Amino acid sequence: MTHAADPAVVVVTARPDPGGLTRLFAAGLPVLVVPTAGAALDVLARHAADLVLIESGPGLDATALIRSLRLRPHLARSSILLLADGDPAEMRRRALEAGATDVVAAPFDESDLALRGRNLIALARAQGAVESQARTLAREVERAAAESQEREREIIRRLMLAAEFRDDQAGDHLTRVAGCVLAIADGLGLSEEEGNDIALASTMHDIGKIGVADSILRKPGPLTEPERCEMMQHALRGYRMLHDSPSRLLRLAAEIALTHHERWDGAGYPQGLKGTEIPLPGRITAVADVFDALISARVYKPGWPLERARRFLEEQSGSHFDPDCVAAFLSRWEDVVALVEERPADRAA
Ligand SMILES: [Fe+2]
Ligand SMILES: [Fe+2]
Repeated sequence: MTHAADPAVVVVTARPDPGGLTRLFAAGLPVLVVPTAGAALDVLARHAADLVLIESGPGLDATALIRSLRLRPHLARSSILLLADGDPAEMRRRALEAGATDVVAAPFDESDLALRGRNLIALARAQGAVESQARTLAREVERAAAESQEREREIIRRLMLAAEFRDDQAGDHLTRVAGCVLAIADGLGLSEEEGNDIALASTMHDIGKIGVADSILRKPGPLTEPERCEMMQHALRGYRMLHDSPSRLLRLAAEIALTHHERWDGAGYPQGLKGTEIPLPGRITAVADVFDALISARVYKPGWPLERARRFLEEQSGSHFDPDCVAAFLSRWEDVVALVEERPADRAA
């Protein structure tokens, strides 16, 4: 990174009077002269420069210095110009191989050197500008991606609201289910990102119910067999609504909608999947969804006490539910209790 205090040019020369070299550059350009390779490395450990001008001579291993400088990422865009003495062809080859931008052989023509120096400074600055533009672009792309992701999540939350309006029972159900899903995902050791995605997608598990008639959805008593069949369609309908979305989150929601009524023992619906044939997000949501349905009051039943619902999960672990998901849920039991206390499930339909 370039700092305001960085010199534009660092001249490395053993000349007792380096004035001839520094005069090559325009007045006002900050030039720093150092007498040894060690001093150059020291200065350029903390600073960047547009041009490093190295005058080779006895006691200064220019090739080694160039190689060391090129190892430093903050000097990647710096131009390095070597003023070579000795065997110019051999030196030129070695210096260029080490990473020099250009090599000028003695004797030096001052005006030629001044022009080259100016060009190399311009080159380094142009490269710096391109890099900073690339960084700005990358930041903008990142911001746009975050924005579109946030919009996607917003749309999902609104979809969830729409489902809630339709199904009076939903209420805080979806929020509590999402909270329980997070607890299970955490207990299973999934990453925070995975947990958040599954939790958000789980809020759409019953979205297919918007296709179920009010007379069934809001029926205050037990359902007849055909009504139950109609109700069961919500899993597949939810899947159909979401599955072909380009959005990864909505496809995840489709998978959950389709599989949240499957059972570990294969006795669930709609596909009768068994064990790990059921995608993990569906297995997680099944535990969270049933748990919350149990503790919620319905017109036909009071809400169960938490301990009773907990016992039910334990009893059904390995038959209805994935035992790992139940164990993960119970390992976060305190979080679950706190969540339910914060959003009590005592509303009747
Ligand atoms: Fe459902
Ligand atoms: Fe549900």
